[in-house]
Amino acid sequence: MAPVVLVPTMGALHQGHLDLVREARRLAGDSGQVAVSIFVNPLQFGPGEDLDRYPRTLESDVAGCREAGADLVFAPSNSQIYHPDRSIQIIEQALSKVLCGTSRPGHFDGVCTVVAKLFNLVQPDAAVFGKKDFQQLAIIRRMVRDLDIPVSLHGMETVREADGLAMSSRNRYLTPEERAQAPALRAALEKALAAWHMGITAATRLRDLVAEHLATHAPLGRVDYLGLVDASSLEAKAVLPANQHHLIAIAVFFGGARLIDNIELVPK
Ligand code: PAJ
Repeated sequence: MAPVVLVPTMGALHQGHLDLVREARRLAGDSGQVAVSIFVNPLQFGPGEDLDRYPRTLESDVAGCREAGADLVFAPSNSQIYHPDRSIQIIEQALSKVLCGTSRPGHFDGVCTVVAKLFNLVQPDAAVFGKKDFQQLAIIRRMVRDLDIPVSLHGMETVREADGLAMSSRNRYLTPEERAQAPALRAALEKALAAWHMGITAATRLRDLVAEHLATHAPLGRVDYLGLVDASSLEAKAVLPANQHHLIAIAVFFGGARLIDNIELVPK
């Protein structure tokens, strides 16, 4: 069977997105088909967020998709996706209450609703998501499981700039000074990982390491959250035992731009 593989995106594509497309091409093989959706989903933006100024670069996105091996780009308009009198949506009640969910209420319900709709419209066998949005991937996994959606999910590692900053469409909002400090997110998380490998398992100590690194190296940043959680339930942990899989996730505001990053703590 020639599989159909979908890569859902909001456009403004960078190498991180295109890596997902290349992975989709690999999964689809020569006989399968790769579809990329580009839709800036209003349902997942809160009031005061960047829906109106979210970058839209459709022409170069399509060129990038073609180069990365996509067969089809699906870029619907708002009215093609949402009926004006729509009254049904998906609500996630556990994993979306922590980390990004705390400061973005309703965000993941909007993500789930649009991803379910994209799955129904494209009917892919598989879909590829990035681990940069680790919580999003965990929630979509839960949705696929709980609603018996017949799509297999693939998670891809975060693609980074040379200095460690996770690629993001929102990096373009940064001033040069903020951009210079933004790699501190990754460096702080790596410091915590190194400490964990050295045997430090108390969440407070790991948290302090991250916070101190950010205070020193990213004084322009304002930490939105810093979560030390179980990698599958996303529940906060007071102790991060060496034999269990954890996640440290962080969101930092630089001016109006909110950057996220995370690091997995995987037992050796
Ligand atoms: P968007 O932010 O455009 O991201 C699309 C996909 O690219 C997501 O799976 C995201 O995790 C992945 N991605 C983004 N930056 C990445 C990086 N630096 N490295 C690897 N992967 C990266 O996430 C969304 O759109 C939306 O919420 C969506 C799922 C499309 C629903 O609207």
